[in-house]
Amino acid sequence: MPEQKPIKITETVLRDAHQSLIATRMPTEFMLPIVDKMDKVGYHSVECWGGATFDASLRFLKEDPWERLRKLRAGFKNTKLQMLFRGQNILGYRHYADDVVEYFVQKSIANGIDIIRIFDCLNDIRNLECAVKACNKEGGHAQIALSYTLGDAYTLDYWMNIAKEIEAMGADSICIKDMAGLLVPYEASKLITAMKSATKLPIQLHTHYTSGVASMTYLKAVEAGVDVIDCAMSPFALGTSQPATEVMAETFKGTPYDPGFDQNLLAEIADYFRPYREECLKTGLLDPKVLGVNIKTLMYQVPGGMLSNMVSQLKEQNASDKYDEVLQEIPRVRKDFGEPPLVTPSSQIVGTQAVFNVLMGERYKMATGETKDLLSGKYGKTVKPFNAEVQKKVIGDAEVITCRPADLIPNELEKIENEMKQWKQQDEDVLSYALFPQVAVDFFKYRQAQQEKVDMTQADTKNAAYPV
Ligand code: CO
Repeated sequence: MPEQKPIKITETVLRDAHQSLIATRMPTEFMLPIVDKMDKVGYHSVECWGGATFDASLRFLKEDPWERLRKLRAGFKNTKLQMLFRGQNILGYRHYADDVVEYFVQKSIANGIDIIRIFDCLNDIRNLECAVKACNKEGGHAQIALSYTLGDAYTLDYWMNIAKEIEAMGADSICIKDMAGLLVPYEASKLITAMKSATKLPIQLHTHYTSGVASMTYLKAVEAGVDVIDCAMSPFALGTSQPATEVMAETFKGTPYDPGFDQNLLAEIADYFRPYREECLKTGLLDPKVLGVNIKTLMYQVPGGMLSNMVSQLKEQNASDKYDEVLQEIPRVRKDFGEPPLVTPSSQIVGTQAVFNVLMGERYKMATGETKDLLSGKYGKTVKPFNAEVQKKVIGDAEVITCRPADLIPNELEKIENEMKQWKQQDEDVLSYALFPQVAVDFFKYRQAQQEKVDMTQADTKNAAYPV
């Protein structure tokens, strides 16, 4: 019988919820007025940084993501702040050298992050080592997230063994990251029970409502002894986001699992977010389509975001009629690629290759650069071997690496800093540039122009006061 204790809740409204529903467009200025109330709830943590928020801040909102973090840190006096970190990719799309990973971890913690959730799209834990060690060194909480997926290789033994490896690596907790909403309630019972028996580390469960089962999955997981669940305030819950915080809190009221939240306080917070949701619905930023149940995600084991990418890729090619064919090709490509979980960036790699395979009329007639890299081992090790025939067709006799990919990347921080020196106003700018060079430079230019504007206004006022 698992221990019955109050469930802890991580609030995702400031990161995953708006990433999943409104393309990560919630601006800092909208977040700040509600921080004080959120700080009083008693959350285990508030996820508010990392994932796509960094890119979206620089690219679309013209905000400095570091500034956002510092402002949130100043507001959340009692609550731990959490971020999502993509292993050796950090928040970008390539593998970085260890010195960049270490520096990013150091600066994230220095600017206010308490818990770093680190994952790898192949669950190759060698890609997590560097970030975990850096987090340990900086005194942060290193959480390793396992990308949850289904397939022949993903037995309970697989999850139990990898949990033991994670504990041995020095992580502080484990998260099961079910980005596609594939974990159904009774499987969650089995999975949590098995993992609890394999490790002493706290286990957190992260899922999405995409397939419609998420709150039932949480209920069974909590009964099986999971320690923390990820929820979002109701105006930004459900659909492709998380189960609602208020609903989960109410579900456990009067039981040993009661998180002890004040529903009146939660209602006030929800009242703050609701008009913004309405506005997003009106402007189209929030598409009602993502709020429904998408059972195809269970049938094809494909994350919702990947399905919508595929739809737009096919539309661009005037090949929307190939949708079903591509859907069936995805699991085949995934098998050829060693059955990886489908999460950024493996989801894009598999999805785009599946589209190519169908549109070209011959499988792997054309392979993307990312497919070549994956089959050369440059993303790391997959749980099953690659299809040797496919590998041969795609990369020929090119060398295949078997070491940790970052072992082949020499330190690069100094070089990166030299490239962007002219824009540097704070140490953190080097990291923004390292992750998104072009986008960061555009932002630095914008920032400079804004600063010059302010200087000009001040100069004008001065001239007006002291006419020459
Ligand atoms: Co998520």
